[in-house]
Amino acid sequence: MCGIVGYVGNAPAAGSADSHQHSALDVLIEGLRRLEYRGYDSAGVAVLTDQGIESRKKAGKLANLEAELEASPLPVAYTGIGHTRWATHGGPTDRNAHPHVVDGGSLALIHNGIIENFAEHKAALEADGVEFVSETDTEVAAALLAKVYDTESEGDLTRAMQLTSQRLEGAFTLLAIHKDHPGVVVASRRNSPLVIGLGEGENFLGSDVSGFIDFTKRAVELAQDQVVTITPESFEITDFFGSPAQGKEFTVDWDAAAAEKDGYPSFMEKEIHDQPEAVLQTLLGRSDIDGRLTLDEMRIDPEELKKIDKIIVLACGTSAYAGHVAKYAIETWCRIPTEVELAHEFRYREPIITPTTLVVSLSQSGETMDTLMAVRYAREQGARTMAICNTNGSTIPRESDAVLYTHAGPEIAVASTKAFLAQIVAAYLLGLYLAQLRGNKFQGEIKDILADLNKIPAKIQSVLDNADPIRELARSMKDADSVLFLGRHVGFPVALEGALKLKEIAYIHAEGFAAGELKHGPIALIEEGQPVFIVVPSPRGRDSLHAKVVSNIQEVRARGARTFVIAEEGDEAVKAYAEEVFFIPETQPLLAPLLATVPLQIFAAALAGAKGYDVDQPRNLAKSVTVE
Ligand code: F6R
Repeated sequence: MCGIVGYVGNAPAAGSADSHQHSALDVLIEGLRRLEYRGYDSAGVAVLTDQGIESRKKAGKLANLEAELEASPLPVAYTGIGHTRWATHGGPTDRNAHPHVVDGGSLALIHNGIIENFAEHKAALEADGVEFVSETDTEVAAALLAKVYDTESEGDLTRAMQLTSQRLEGAFTLLAIHKDHPGVVVASRRNSPLVIGLGEGENFLGSDVSGFIDFTKRAVELAQDQVVTITPESFEITDFFGSPAQGKEFTVDWDAAAAEKDGYPSFMEKEIHDQPEAVLQTLLGRSDIDGRLTLDEMRIDPEELKKIDKIIVLACGTSAYAGHVAKYAIETWCRIPTEVELAHEFRYREPIITPTTLVVSLSQSGETMDTLMAVRYAREQGARTMAICNTNGSTIPRESDAVLYTHAGPEIAVASTKAFLAQIVAAYLLGLYLAQLRGNKFQGEIKDILADLNKIPAKIQSVLDNADPIRELARSMKDADSVLFLGRHVGFPVALEGALKLKEIAYIHAEGFAAGELKHGPIALIEEGQPVFIVVPSPRGRDSLHAKVVSNIQEVRARGARTFVIAEEGDEAVKAYAEEVFFIPETQPLLAPLLATVPLQIFAAALAGAKGYDVDQPRNLAKSVTVE
């Protein structure tokens, strides 16, 4: 939600062709290109030269800013800040775009987050004669920083940022440059992400490492409520009151090529095809040949984990559906009562948390504000917290007692695909680890489940290799205005995920239901020609679940629905009830979501593509939702 980049470098010495030196604009545009998934309502840059600050900004995608820069180039500079916006305060216009340049052109500022007490500062600044040109909370922060700089800081930009940050409430990452401070970018963060990138004779700031991955893999994590000042040769971190602080350095374990489309028409298509590798990487190195799990990052004492008597899974959106899948597995394998709750609902009731509650958060980005706030709340109430996360160095794992990283690689498309499967795999590993610790399962059973998990990447590959029929169906359905998805047991969250994918990228009304719930109301929606996808469980699964779902297919079919079925290979019986069946390879029923989800992802991407939509950057959305 809003992407932020900052850069300081040195001008190359006269006559040198030093490859370490980049122009600020090149770095900012490349960083914004990689961060555009965080928001694409507008983009803007400001650079600082001996002549002062110059800025360009434009509503719409980054391409609009690039066109503007071509029409009206900026001078070559080695200090600058850049922003890509997901609008909160004020519509997506040129005027509301960042950077906000204030104080007669002296200071430029960009912001990610929401400043909750902006109205009171705005009123005070207006009373002082400041005139605002935008509707944003950001311009208020910029004006406040300028005022504090002019009146209280004795020309110390870092000090001014510290004092300003003390007075702001809410969530913010702020980056500022000032005409009197060439070669300096000052930044501040509270509840919004910011990482430092370390180069040679140049340093970077980014909302996440993709903001500078083309230039360096050395990064430094910042903690809450910190201010950082970067110059080409140094970085200095303090808290909001000026006390020095240390950042934690880490090396980014993926390279820029991992964040390229690799010949696919979209990042989403590429990431769907990355899934065998994402699952493989998440499994890698976490068990030995005897099927004993070792989760190195698990920083919670095993003795404590043995005493856990309740698990609460917290997440939002697709990650919450991964949590629903995890619940079935954890309860089956560990016999620990497991609740799944949308993070934004959790802390507004009175959840029952004790020191023997384990709160597991699932988050691809590790920055989702709703999830972060819920995790903080759970910690305050005394729970042990563990994060399943795809983004190294992000806030949620840093603020949790333990972390289990998914190794899906960077996910750029706004609609989550490979992170979803990797989250399910990581949650399964957690379930098996707890079962192993607590002795709920014999080691032999764990070994068998792991062996089946290890076969999943090849099985996903086979779904991908045989996906043409589902693509064809998607293209034929591009004029559909409603699609329903049904499933039972672990097929239920798969149905929810299938519906969410279609809604978010194809803008089609779609709903997922527990198939058994249909007769309690939603069946009234079925009329002649209504497309319905049904995720059918394995006929080898429990009790009569398969038969029950087949009955549900018949119920909707009898009322005119067009039925499209995802079923296990060899389940010939379902053919009689389906207009089309998409078969997935056999696996244990609890692992089936790792396969059944894939055709639904492909369906959504192909349908959105057929409608001519930008599947990577769907309207109104941003990848990382850092506001509540
Ligand atoms: C949907 C999607 C979102 C995210 C949700 C949580 O495709 O991507 O629903 O799953 O915003 O994001 P993370 O996992 O980053 O916390």
